[in-house]
Parts: sequence; C-alpha cells; structure tokens
Amino acid sequence: MIAVDVRNLCKTYRVFRKQEGLWPSIKGLFHREHQPVHAVAGVSFQIERGEMVAFLGPNGAGKTTTLKLLAGLIYPTSGVATVLGYVPWQREIAYRRRFALVMGQKNQLWWDLPAQESFRLHKEIYRIDPTDFERRLDELTTLLEVKKLVGQPVRELSLGERMRMELIAALLHRPDVLLLDEPTIGLDVVSQRKVQDFLKQYQQEQRLTVLLTSHYMKDVQALCQRAIIINEGEIKHDGPLAQIVDRFSKFKVIELQFAGESLPGELDRFGEVFDVSFPRAKIRVPRNQVPEILSALLSAFPLEDVGVHDRPLEEAIAEMFTSTRATAPEPAAAVIP
Ligand SMILES: Nc1ncnc2c1ncn2[C@@H]1O[C@H](COP(=O)(O)OP(=O)(O)O)[C@@H](O)[C@H]1O
Ligand SMILES: [Mg+2]
Repeated sequence: MIAVDVRNLCKTYRVFRKQEGLWPSIKGLFHREHQPVHAVAGVSFQIERGEMVAFLGPNGAGKTTTLKLLAGLIYPTSGVATVLGYVPWQREIAYRRRFALVMGQKNQLWWDLPAQESFRLHKEIYRIDPTDFERRLDELTTLLEVKKLVGQPVRELSLGERMRMELIAALLHRPDVLLLDEPTIGLDVVSQRKVQDFLKQYQQEQRLTVLLTSHYMKDVQALCQRAIIINEGEIKHDGPLAQIVDRFSKFKVIELQFAGESLPGELDRFGEVFDVSFPRAKIRVPRNQVPEILSALLSAFPLEDVGVHDRPLEEAIAEMFTSTRATAPEPAAAVIP
C-alpha cells in the first residue's frame, strides 16, 4: 500500500531581485522585479507504507520545501500529493493526527517550560486518551533515555536531549507517517547514535513510514535502504542506497602508514594524495586499480600498515553535483612502475 504519493509537484517562490547601485534601487522602490525560484520543480515519487526512505541532496536542493508541502505547511504551485490518502495542504484535522514533522533546526517545545508541559498540551490538542498518553510517554521516555529530564525546563537541556524530546512530542499521537528534516543536525556522536538506534527500533515496531533528510550519511546508512536524491528541485536518483555507492563511488581510499623516517616523494604518481600527516597518508585511487596500485606501493615503500576503505557516501553524493571530479578523466591513472 502506498503511503506517500507525489506527482509532478512544483513549488516556485517569487523573490525580489536585489538591485545593485543607487538609481536601480530607487527605481526598485516603485517597480520591484520578481525572480522565480523553482524550489521544487516537478518532483514525483511513491513511498510504501512502512518504508523508511532517505531524501538526500545538497543545500538548497528542495528537501525542506518538499517536506513542508507534505506537511501541509505551504501550498504547491502545481502538482499533486497525497499522504495516506489526504491532500496535505487541505489541512484536515484527520490528517493532522496521522503524521508528524520534526525539523532539527526548529523547536516546537516551549523553551521555558519542562518538556512534560508541552507533552500535556499535545495530549489536549490531539485528544489523546489519558491512559494511552501515560503509556506512550513512559515508553518513549524510556526508549530515548530522557525519563528523568521531562520535568526540567527545555532551555536547560542539551541539544541532543532537546532533540529527543522533540521526537517524543512528535510521536505521542502515534502518527503513521513521520517526516524528519535533519533530526540529528549538530548533535554529538553519542546523541546522534541514540536517535538513530531509537528511530530504527521504533520504525520497525510501529511500521512507521518515514522520509528522512540528513547531512549525515551515518544516519542514512544505519536506517535506510532506499534513497531519493534531489538537486535543484528535481529528482536525480531513486533506488537502493547501495546503488548510489556502487554507481558513484568509482574510487577507494588506500591508507598508508610508513615505516621510514619521512614521507617518501612521488606518492602522487599512485593516485590523488590527501590527508597527509606523517607517518600516515591517504591516496584516492580508482576502484578497479586497487590491487595493482596496492602491490606497487608495497614494493616501493617500507610500510607499517595498509588499509583500503570505501569513500564516505557524502563524498560520492557531493560528487554527483560537482561536475569536476565526476567528469574528469580518471585522475589516478597511476603510472605503475
Ligand atoms: N520561503 C522561501 N522564499 C524564497 N525562496 C525560498 C524559500 N524557502 C526556500 N527557498 C529557496 O528554495 C530552494 C530550496 O530550499 P530548501 O527546500 O530549503 O532546500 P534544502 O532543504 O534542500 O536545503 C532554495 O534555493 C531556497 O533558497
Ligand atoms: Mg533543508
């Protein structure tokens, strides 16, 4: 069953063009020039009930705008979308009870009040049955390890703790669809991991349908099998996450630890050298040449240790949008001695 159905969705913002110079600015007071920004430019995708999908793309790609449309916060310029059969921007109360939007950059909890006060407010707004409410609150605060903190003013909590409270607030009414906009942004590694673990477990238990944007590929790799990639308002890829790695990760990283006194010269004839801090150095090499280059390195230098790693996924995705490296000839056309 399809939970989220988006077809040819467009959102164009009109922004005023800034006028340079005095005379154009004065003219601009009377005649302001609009410029269209195609934040979402004909996006289509479907998400099955119970699926957790990563929504990736560089800054300004249109991710937040898409999520705002699906949450009914803004109206589209054209196109259609239904979530659980509802058209989000019709803002039916019945729909409001079925989804939640969490934005890492915005808080929905009252800053000066303890989180539990905001939770109680949610209970009233969503008309949650008091027994259900207590049970869910207990369950969620236990899972997210914030039980002792619900009585503390939100402003006194760490960012990670606050984010976990935000998640609780979003989940108290048991939504079926969860829209997550960078829920781990700025979190320390431990909090990030806690949020990941929680989302993984909770999503599976509840068969929640989730659309997740994140800067951190760790989140995505831990949670999602499928990724939709958007750039300049258009979908560029929709498929298994692994495919992205395969398709775009043409390179591997060989990490070397040298045994000698100093870094040997001519390293760059083996590949693109980066992240050098003696006795360590990393070389980016085409994936299909790893064996040859590795054996060439081993015979050329005294080495303490060698490792071969996948490149981080974020690098591979960033590369899709910067034509330089993606289209450049294989850079590490290593001259193997
Ligand atoms: N309220 C707005 N008014 C004008 N332009 C906007 C507005 N919101 C977003 N945009 C523009 O739309 C594009 C997509 O933004 P956004 O959806 O926030 O991207 P992302 O979340 O992928 O970083 C950007 O160029 C952004 O500047
Ligand atoms: Mg955004």
